[in-house]
Amino acid sequence: MSSNSKKVYIETYGCQMNVNDTEVIFAILANEGFIRTEDIAEADVIMANTCSIRDNAEQRIWGRIEQFNLQKNTRHDVLTGIVGCMAERLKEKLLDKGNVDFVAGPDAYRNLPRLIADAAPGHPQIDTELSREETYGDIKPVRIDKNGVSAFISIMRGCNNVCSYCVVPYTRGVERSRDPRTIIEEARNLFDRGYKEVTLLGQNVDSYHWKCDREEVSFASLLEQVAHISPDLRIRFSTSNPQDFSDEVLMVMAKYDNICKHIHFPVQSGSNRILEKMRRRYTREWYLERVSRIREIIPDCGITTDVIAGFCSETEEDHKDTLSLFDIVGFDTAFMFYYSERPGTISQRNYPDDVDIETKTRRLNEIIALQGKKSLESYRKDIGKVFRVLVEGPSKKDPADLCGRASNNKMCVFADNIHKAGDYVDVEVTGCTSATLLCRLLD
Ligand code: SAH
Ligand code: SF4
Ligand code: F3S
Repeated sequence: MSSNSKKVYIETYGCQMNVNDTEVIFAILANEGFIRTEDIAEADVIMANTCSIRDNAEQRIWGRIEQFNLQKNTRHDVLTGIVGCMAERLKEKLLDKGNVDFVAGPDAYRNLPRLIADAAPGHPQIDTELSREETYGDIKPVRIDKNGVSAFISIMRGCNNVCSYCVVPYTRGVERSRDPRTIIEEARNLFDRGYKEVTLLGQNVDSYHWKCDREEVSFASLLEQVAHISPDLRIRFSTSNPQDFSDEVLMVMAKYDNICKHIHFPVQSGSNRILEKMRRRYTREWYLERVSRIREIIPDCGITTDVIAGFCSETEEDHKDTLSLFDIVGFDTAFMFYYSERPGTISQRNYPDDVDIETKTRRLNEIIALQGKKSLESYRKDIGKVFRVLVEGPSKKDPADLCGRASNNKMCVFADNIHKAGDYVDVEVTGCTSATLLCRLLD
């Protein structure tokens, strides 16, 4: 360990995997003596771990980079950097336009200490090499969550699908699975330190696959191994891709109480014509069959989704197919977006972005309005039920109350002045909004 003791501030954008990547970065830097700070004004090194998924994500980050660089006006030796997906997508362009001192792509984090050491005003450093092997499997992330209850574990990196709208395969590279032994060890270590919940992360967890000597591990068997660590350690996972979602995973979920009954199941569109154009490798019928199967095997399973409104050539008919799918399934919650063209993707190269912004916005708003009703229906169905909740801490709305999630991922809020973060409690649902279950603590 060196004794450089520089203070590092990182802002994280984008998905849960990026949050976990920031924890990996802190671990790599801590090993070289860097110290984490949450106060930008005292930081020697300031960086953004960035996201490229939609244009507005990038625009927001550009604004922050300008703010970061303002720190240099008063403190001349401050270094600023951009890491993550935008770094990978824009490479050298960030040095010119962003006026930053270093740029590192998602597979270059081991090189960050060197990049930072070599960076100097007028001599920016860059590494955006992608790797076929890097999983950071041996690195013990420095946890940045506030409550010490729930942690992310990346089980794979990259993505081998080529959904036509999506920038991830270009920013994250090819799919690779992480050695299961390092995953189990990390989960066990978290549990020993008091954590009660782990979320296994990958762009397509169902294609997790590890092969080494005679050992072969699928996602279902990995899930089972993590579930064995302790009945008091809850397991969540994300994201499941409908095309690969297997009954085997459902069976393992059903078998273990500590595997949470929630599946994030991004549909993207309810129209077969659009799904094909998006290069999603399933149909509306296949998707609905998978949902029926989930509900058959795990009747109370929470199901959430992602959807994109106004993809290239989407007609009113296609849009109605999406609305009707939302009506049929009745998701608990959905992340809803309108299509944002990303440079270099298959759809950008092949199809005109021809749904005008007014139509995109209107369609998105129609989906949001329908989903609002469906969420309320879904939450109302839970009134009267009893759930086991893992306490996360004080409720945001009223710090006198506690909050935590039920197995189905719904947030529960209840009056309680006995328990604390990390405790399991039983509650009865007495009311709801479209995003929260209002509950009563049972003795
Ligand atoms: N691997 C996950 C998705 C990761 S990206 C999966 O396959 O489902 C998260 C979500 O962002 C996607 O599900 C999609 O709904 C949305 N998204 C991705 N690219 C987009 C784009 N170009 N425009 C709008 N939304 C997009
Ligand atoms: Fe993007 Fe598709 Fe991969 Fe998800 S599965 S990250 S949407 S390419
Ligand atoms: Fe964004 Fe990269 Fe995640 S583009 S959603 S941070 S994989």
